[in-house]
Amino acid sequence: MTVYDNPVFFRRGCAIVNSEKWSETETTEREILQEMKYQNIIENMTLKEKAAFLSGKSEWQTREFPRLDIPAIFCSDGPNGVRKQAGAGDHLGINPSVPATCFPTAATMANSWDEELEQKVGVALGEESMEEEVNVLLGPGLNIKRNPLCGRNFEYFSEDPYLSGKMAAAFIRGVQSTGAAACAKHFAVNSQELRRMAMNAVVDERTLREIYLTGFEIAIKEGNAKTVMSSYNEVNGVYANENEHLLKDILRDEWGFDGSVITDWGASNDHSLGVKNGSTLEMPTPGLDAARELIASVESGKISEKDIDERVDELLDLVLTTTENAKHYKKAADKKALHEEHHKLARRACEESAVLLKNEGGILPVGEKVQAAVIGDFAFEPRYQGAGSSMVNSTKVDSIKDMLESCGISVTGIVHGYQRDGKEDEAMKKEAVDLARRSDVVLFFFGLNEKSETEGLDRKHLRIPQNQINLIQELAKANANMIGIISAGSVIEMPWHHHFKALLHTALMGQAGAGAVLDILSGKINPSGKLAETYIKKYEDTPSYNYYPSQERNSEYREGIYVGYRYFDTAGVPVNYPFGYGLSYTTFEYENLQVKPDGVTFTIRNTGKYDGAEIAQLYVGLPGAKVFRPVKELKGFTKVFLKTGEEKTVTIKFDDKTFRYWNMKTNKWEVEGGVYSIMIGASCADIRLQDTLAIIGTTEIMPYYTNRVASYMDGKIQKVGNEEFETILGHSIPDGSWSGELGMNDALCQMYYAKSGIARFICKKLGEKLKKSEAAGVPDLNTLFQYNMPFRAIAKMTGGMVSMEMVEGLVRVVNGHFSGLGKVISGFFRNQKLNKQYEKDLEEQK
Ligand code: BGC
Repeated sequence: MTVYDNPVFFRRGCAIVNSEKWSETETTEREILQEMKYQNIIENMTLKEKAAFLSGKSEWQTREFPRLDIPAIFCSDGPNGVRKQAGAGDHLGINPSVPATCFPTAATMANSWDEELEQKVGVALGEESMEEEVNVLLGPGLNIKRNPLCGRNFEYFSEDPYLSGKMAAAFIRGVQSTGAAACAKHFAVNSQELRRMAMNAVVDERTLREIYLTGFEIAIKEGNAKTVMSSYNEVNGVYANENEHLLKDILRDEWGFDGSVITDWGASNDHSLGVKNGSTLEMPTPGLDAARELIASVESGKISEKDIDERVDELLDLVLTTTENAKHYKKAADKKALHEEHHKLARRACEESAVLLKNEGGILPVGEKVQAAVIGDFAFEPRYQGAGSSMVNSTKVDSIKDMLESCGISVTGIVHGYQRDGKEDEAMKKEAVDLARRSDVVLFFFGLNEKSETEGLDRKHLRIPQNQINLIQELAKANANMIGIISAGSVIEMPWHHHFKALLHTALMGQAGAGAVLDILSGKINPSGKLAETYIKKYEDTPSYNYYPSQERNSEYREGIYVGYRYFDTAGVPVNYPFGYGLSYTTFEYENLQVKPDGVTFTIRNTGKYDGAEIAQLYVGLPGAKVFRPVKELKGFTKVFLKTGEEKTVTIKFDDKTFRYWNMKTNKWEVEGGVYSIMIGASCADIRLQDTLAIIGTTEIMPYYTNRVASYMDGKIQKVGNEEFETILGHSIPDGSWSGELGMNDALCQMYYAKSGIARFICKKLGEKLKKSEAAGVPDLNTLFQYNMPFRAIAKMTGGMVSMEMVEGLVRVVNGHFSGLGKVISGFFRNQKLNKQYEKDLEEQK
């Protein structure tokens, strides 16, 4: 072990580093600007104008004020392609949108571990936004994959906050380099789709900071996101959109964010509290009721006009700068050519992201002389993106079938093999087995179908459709050389795993994935992706297995910081494929680790027969830590391309996140003193190089008595009792049980509690409609949204037709008080009248 000079002291051969260097305490006080940036405009705005400015005019647009030269701006989803709706707008991916390039989804891109590539994709997304006159692109999504059942995991990067944050920051830098604004979403702790708008995440401060916020912190500080989308849920009893701790203390004061916070569509609960606590723009269409609410709150003293002015200033900055950028943007002379170029980039993105999970006896790449059967419905029509607001109307979609001819693989035939919707089909099966029998190898394209992965709906299990499993078993009997190509945006169980000699995991590969996959199979491209989430053996192994999804309001994050590999690694739970894992056609050797005070250097050599890229990962752990922590945590990574025989020395720097943990007693980031393990791995389970580094701690104050957090000390957290959970929470567990009457914030699906028979009937009907659509294999996203949305959202998404007063009346009716009907009716007429008056007042200002 080498010993280093300053700022290092020597002790027992270890380098002792003064950790203050990295223990930056995040006290960047946000300067309260005396003079706002757009003071001159704000001074000229009436309170009515300012209040109206802070909520959407239509599904995607803000309000314009021509007399003040304030134009409207346009927002569009989403994270893997621009979904600009020129006609009827909806936020669920139902109505058509203009054609755009569908890139691999975040779950796929994260497997590339390639920030440069992600930034390039970001640039392309920004360019397409600017072409379509979209000012704000609603992505990236970087929620942590707490549980593999979350229906939106395909839209998110990883189970690890560091990787998520780095990829998100790269995406944002790319988008924003074109002049459009990106939107980091969904802030925060939004990890369940079930009743996503009526769910309270109960999470301790340390877990919140280390797991659920660190990615956002990186996205804000390193990506400089201009906007952030507040999530639907509550965090520790306060809606994310009005959460002072999240939006003011952390986002704005600690991280220095000075952009606009935009609500998720329908996520505003108390608009005034949102504005007071740092939320800038309510979307989509609460009508002028929301504006009146702000004015009434100023009059009552609930908020001040200064609160409104601060938010107006932020929104003006977004509107005016993105509009100005659009004026200077030079649109492509040939849009088709631009799309063609982006198609190529989407293909490259897939090449870099596909993960080779298994390759027994080097069966891949398939040689030219090998006769291959191509089997699977996905070979005809790829499964390449998820459903919901991120769904892109792709400019074109490549399929395996159409690209076979020129791919360099000798093909004996191509058949569907199975029905996509899961139905058994004996004729198809037979045809496939016959083809397999007359071929040298089988290329089997399979995985999750469309109905398995969608926004608004959590998965019920981790299995692929049974008809595919049955076919695998039959094919394996006919041909021992099975090569599986998986399409799935999130984790699947693989009890059929042993039937395959090779497995290539393509996740959701975007519109140009087919060509990339064929190039990998034929060996033109050497696979280099590595898993950004753990592939477990069975769902029951998931750390949050007993806590997810919450059936009632409170979702208790009892597993704490032990999410993903942090748990499996620490608790010693075997997995199918670990975090960070992925094979290559070549081999790499790691050597010569040098741990320096500011980072590590080591050498990687390509020792195999193919050129290729390796993703090396830096993990840090503290054996014998007094403050419980995972055995190891990702703190850096690098992707290096090496020709055969070539070697490179690489450096990964430490940063302020390398050694820190959140101390709930001192209420800041601290560093525990001790001798840290510094590990370089080809995955979290394949550590190639290791050394130690001694670090001086920043506090002696212990956050917990270790005997009171025994489960957390050894990572066995699947059954954390109340007392232990309360210890890490620092307070008693809030009561999430049913309170007797339905409220504005209860979800429509909770009407099974309603006193009104009609309400229970509607609830039943909605439920039946959903079940029917699920059985038909096409989730009805509209009904799903309604089913899970709280009553108040009716007022927030109907363009001024329904006021909050009317919803209050409606909830009374649901609770069996028919007097509420009067409130609905009188509220309707009052709302109409007040809307007209407000519009007239705005008109008169012109
Ligand atoms: C989703 C967001 C999306 C928004 C607008 C919401 O339902 O949660 O991710 O950006 O709709 O479509």
